[in-house]
Amino acid sequence: MIVLSFLAVGLALPFVRATIRFGCAQLVTERFDPLVTPGQVSPHVHQIIGGNAFNLTMKQDADLPNISTCTTCRFKEDKSNYWTAVLYFKHPNGSFLRVPQIPNHYVGGTRGGMTVYYIPGYPPYQKVTAFPKGFRMISGNPMLRNKPESYVDSVESWALSFRCWEDDEWLGASNRYAPGVGQYDTVHLPNKTCGGGIRQNVFFPTCWDGKNLDTPDHHSHMAYVEGKADPSIGLFFQRGDCPASHPIKMPTILFETWWDTRPFNDMWPEDGSQPFVLSMGDPTGYGLHGDYVFGWEGDSLQRAMDHCLDDFGTPELCKELTVLSDEEINQCAQPPQVNEQVDGENLTALPGCNPVQYGPGSATMVKGCTAISTISLPTATPAP
Ligand SMILES: *[C@@H]1O[C@H](CO)[C@@H](O)[C@H](O)[C@H]1NC(C)=O
Ligand SMILES: *[C@@H]1O[C@H](CO)[C@@H](O)[C@H](O)[C@H]1NC(C)=O
Ligand SMILES: *[C@@H]1O[C@H](CO)[C@@H](O)[C@H](O)[C@H]1NC(C)=O
Ligand SMILES: *[C@@H]1O[C@H](CO)[C@@H](O)[C@H](O)[C@H]1NC(C)=O
Ligand SMILES: *[C@@H]1O[C@H](CO)[C@@H](O)[C@H](O)[C@H]1NC(C)=O
Repeated sequence: MIVLSFLAVGLALPFVRATIRFGCAQLVTERFDPLVTPGQVSPHVHQIIGGNAFNLTMKQDADLPNISTCTTCRFKEDKSNYWTAVLYFKHPNGSFLRVPQIPNHYVGGTRGGMTVYYIPGYPPYQKVTAFPKGFRMISGNPMLRNKPESYVDSVESWALSFRCWEDDEWLGASNRYAPGVGQYDTVHLPNKTCGGGIRQNVFFPTCWDGKNLDTPDHHSHMAYVEGKADPSIGLFFQRGDCPASHPIKMPTILFETWWDTRPFNDMWPEDGSQPFVLSMGDPTGYGLHGDYVFGWEGDSLQRAMDHCLDDFGTPELCKELTVLSDEEINQCAQPPQVNEQVDGENLTALPGCNPVQYGPGSATMVKGCTAISTISLPTATPAP
């Protein structure tokens, strides 16, 4: 009954126009970031989903579909990796506890993880070019603690946002808008309790320069569509034209992460300040970021973008791809290789050297950090 009413509502909405939309379980949670700090333990904790070729170093010419033996994402062909920071609750006594993640509605029963969208161009199903082998990119900047004035209402500013679910009834008012728009989304962490948890939205830029698979900043080979964000229009990220410098329209990638903040709603500090902090010591949310390493088999992503035209992005309706069961997805996991506790207990500090920095200036790295910087042989069991 509930499912039917959601679909009935969902199909009428402008924002459900995905080509494919799917859940992915957690692969591993640890201080790894093979894009920004290859070969080194990264400064802050990430949660990673996707193929199990993920590692401390991932060479750009690595054949990910070949060296991965499984993926935590819904489609067997997708051995890409996707990652983002982790959210912690800061207890008034100063300890930190990782906020659990739960799957979005209608993406299956995966362990934690995220929901990934590949969205076609607008008008509906405008042809897009799949990412080439070796492609990578980052959206967002973990050092930010404020939005520059020039960002206000820009497409880029709204690409990274947080949805404050009003209550447990996700068919309700707070699901009437596309991610990043409407009265329930903010570009900072919500400053009030959210009865149904917080959904973090990370859109990636859509337009490619056609030349570079990556750039030193992992960003400038890509650009957002031109124009000003119009909060009354769903998915404005796909509506504008690509700039002449970045003329090739790619699928727009969106990851959604649902932070289950509900257990913490009765533990807010007495002064009313919001108690959540991203793993790089960011209590503002302006440092929200996501990383993507393309790893689809052969031309499978292009075929899906060309032929899988379900508005809702239902995996089973995409005949070009092979759908994995929840069980197969949940079995794919990696043991963490950094020998430190990142979740499951109240920590005295965020892993790495990440004091909480409120800004508004950019965050600074701690000098002389003595946190663990080397990996050890995997012995621990993967975190749930
Ligand atoms: C990660 O890289 C290390 C060092 O090259 C290697 O020993 C290990 O097998 C790799 N792990 C995976 C899952 O590929
Ligand atoms: C995977 O790698 C092996 C060994 O290099 C090669 O023989 C095989 O064709 C590759 N498979 C695919 C699907 O690329
Ligand atoms: C803070 O409170 C948590 C939960 O009650 C507890 O586990 C932790 O030990 C406390 N930390 C400190 C530093 O007192
Ligand atoms: C809370 O966030 C809203 C939306 O961005 C903003 O208008 C308001 O000033 C904020 N309130 C506080 C107390 O920070
Ligand atoms: C951590 O602290 C919270 C808040 O007091 C408490 O509810 C929870 O049981 C603690 N968790 C662990 C694993 O110690």
